[in-house]
Parts: sequence; C-alpha cells; structure tokens
Amino acid sequence: MPQIYKPSESPVENKKLRVGVIGTGGIAHAHMKAYLNQKDVEIVGASDIVPGKARAFLDEFGLTDAPDFEDNDKLLALKPDGVSVCTYNTTHHTCAVAAMKAGVHVLCEKPMSVTLDQAIQMARAQKETGKILTIGFQPRYDPNMKMIKDIVRSGELGDIYYVQTGGGRRRGIPGGTFIKKELAGVGCLADIGCYGLDMALNTVGYRKPVTVSATASDRFGKNPKYFNDAETFSVDDFSCALIRFEDGLVLDFRMSWAMHMDTMGDTLFLGTDAGLKVKSPNPHLNWGGAWDGSIGDVFLYKDLCGNQVEIKVPLKSAEKSNNFESKVRDFLDAIISGGPSPIPWQEIIYNQAIIDGIIRSSEAKREVEIVIPEI
Ligand SMILES: NC(=O)c1ccc[n+]([C@@H]2O[C@H](COP(=O)([O-])OP(=O)(O)OC[C@H]3O[C@@H](n4cnc5c(N)ncnc54)[C@H](O)[C@@H]3O)[C@@H](O)[C@H]2O)c1
Repeated sequence: MPQIYKPSESPVENKKLRVGVIGTGGIAHAHMKAYLNQKDVEIVGASDIVPGKARAFLDEFGLTDAPDFEDNDKLLALKPDGVSVCTYNTTHHTCAVAAMKAGVHVLCEKPMSVTLDQAIQMARAQKETGKILTIGFQPRYDPNMKMIKDIVRSGELGDIYYVQTGGGRRRGIPGGTFIKKELAGVGCLADIGCYGLDMALNTVGYRKPVTVSATASDRFGKNPKYFNDAETFSVDDFSCALIRFEDGLVLDFRMSWAMHMDTMGDTLFLGTDAGLKVKSPNPHLNWGGAWDGSIGDVFLYKDLCGNQVEIKVPLKSAEKSNNFESKVRDFLDAIISGGPSPIPWQEIIYNQAIIDGIIRSSEAKREVEIVIPEI
C-alpha cells in the first residue's frame, strides 16, 4: 500500500515545531521530557478529560504559561504541528482521528487501538488527510533490535517459515487504567503483547495475517491470591496464538503478565538456511522476553562446511541509546521532511488485526479468519 503524505501547510523548516500532548497520565511524562530535550520544539499546551490534570502536568514541567484544556478540540484549535496521543487505549482512535482531521500530525502511543475496526478508522483518516500517523513502538530503536532485523533481512537465514515470540513476567500485572476493560480494552496483549508482535513482524517484514487460533485468559488477575485488585480486573493476563500468514509463515506467540514460570521462551526465527535464537534477557528478574528492547544473548545456527555450528553474535552496547527520545525525534523529523511516517499504520494494522483476531478466536474457541478491508 503506497503512503501518500501532503506536505505540511506551513513550512516548518527553520522554525520551532509547535507540539501538544493529549492525555496527561503516566506515559505523557516521557513524551514531554523528550520534547523538552529538543531545541526546535515549543509546547503549545496539553489536554486531559480529568479536570485539572493537564494543568498540573504542565506546571510540573514549569510550563506555567502553556494553556491546559479538558476539551481536545480546543488544543487542536491552536493548530499545533503535531500532538502525542497518550490516552488510554480505548480512546486512541477518537483522539488520533480528530487530530488528523484538524490538520495535525500524530504520534500515537501503542497499541494502535483496541479493535481492528478502530485501527481502520485511524488508517482511513490518515489516508484522507495526508497527515503523519506514527505508532509509538520505541523498542524498534534499540541497537540490538535493529541488529536482529538486519541479520534476518540480510537473507542469511534463507526463507523464514516459523517465528516464535513472546515473553512475560512471573508477577507483573500493572494497575490503574491497564486492567479495566472499558479503558484499556485489552490487557497483557495491548500492554506488552503488541511489542512482541512488533518485534517479530518488524524483523521479518510485516506480512499479511490470514488466520489465528488463540486463547486469552485472566486466571491470575482475577485471583486475589496473586493480585490485590482482582475485583476490578476485567482484561486478559495471558494469551497464546498460532498465526498463519498469506505467504505460509507461521508465528507462534505467547505473552503473560503473571505465571508460574520464569519466561515464556526465547524468540526464534527458523529459516531454510539458518536459524536465529534471541534469548530472554532477565528471567531471573521475573521479567523475561525479547519484547521491550532489552534482549539476552543471540545465537545463529547454521551448517558450515558440513558442520552444524552455533555462533554467538556479539551484542551492541545499548548504553547510549534513548529509544523513547529517538521515537519522538523521528516523529519531529518526519514532520519537518513531510514524511514518511516512521512507524506507519500500513505495518501496525496487521499487529492490530492479530490482537483483534486473538480476542475473537479466544471467545469463539476456534480458529478465525483475519480480514482487513481495503483502506
Ligand atoms: N511506549 C511506552 O513505553 C508506554 C508505556 C506505558 C504506557 N503506554 C501507552 O500509553 C497509553 C497511556 O498509558 P498511561 O500509563 O499513560 O495511562 P494513564 O491512565 O496514566 O493516562 C491516560 C490519560 O489519558 C486521559 N484520557 C483518556 N481519554 C482521553 C481523551 N479522550 N482525551 C483526553 N485525555 C484522555 C486520562 O484521563 C489519563 O490521564 C496507553 O495506550 C499505553 O499502552 C506506552
């Protein structure tokens, strides 16, 4: 699908980029910190539906003169060049669509949305308006994630026919808005599952998923023995799925917020010429899985002159990389250059279609088809 961007209405080169933040909860702080580290950004204001929250947020950063709003439209009326959409998952689509329709470029937090239908609404608004819509998967900027992608994309592995990915936490159910269905829409799947999917699919090149057979459950979140807010918990805390792609690739996916296990397994890429194993990074810390930009050791398996060898791939130092700031900078640079979107819906719509399919398959207790209409 070709990407079509309309150039910015006002030439933004050599002038400050005017940026706003929609939704001023937890992650909005990381966005604001990253924006304030950029020399070419001016904060035009922030909005949040909770009265007083945007004001307190701006004041926290010393932005006492920047206006705050409860109504996003009033922020958009200031015609910022771009906004970060940092609301909880169920309102990503409405906020992102409204911004693009108001002529504003959007950096939307992950996951893209909750349902495939919502993601389609966002994609159509992007196509209609020509604005930049990028989805905030910052682990992509990790030097080792990039290295894994380079190895796989180099062709060294031959045809890749199977990928296993996922991860999880032995005890890592978050609180707040993440566990309420009406706000988060989906649980573990939307929180870290979308990262696992992006790690796998960005590496092999996003391909069209056609079917999924999955289960999603809530055995830990709903159990007061393991989670102290069990009564409020209304989303998934575990899911596993087998996803088939149009070209024959199969993805074996697992993700968990809590379990009696150290890790859900390593990430594996099986190819006709070689295989790549990405070990889970920190199982001993109860936080295992190559999904968040921190990865364990990497091994390449292949035949060398008739010998089956296992090669340890040296990791790159990630000390100096600030993945979050890189994703924000990439968004700003895309605004300046007029695109393309750094992490476009043309890729992430498949991620969202899989999450949507996992939920539908789990509810139907059978394999379901993934159908993405023409956008
Ligand atoms: N990239 C990352 O590393 C990362 C980390 C954490 C969270 N996230 C994502 O960021 C999003 C927000 O997470 P959070 O932890 O900041 O949640 P949060 O609940 O702390 O903050 C969300 C804020 O959005 C506001 N809001 C909701 N709907 C709104 C609307 N229509 N208009 C204006 N404001 C609205 C809420 O009042 C709240 O203040 C989620 O989608 C989450 O998946 C990303």
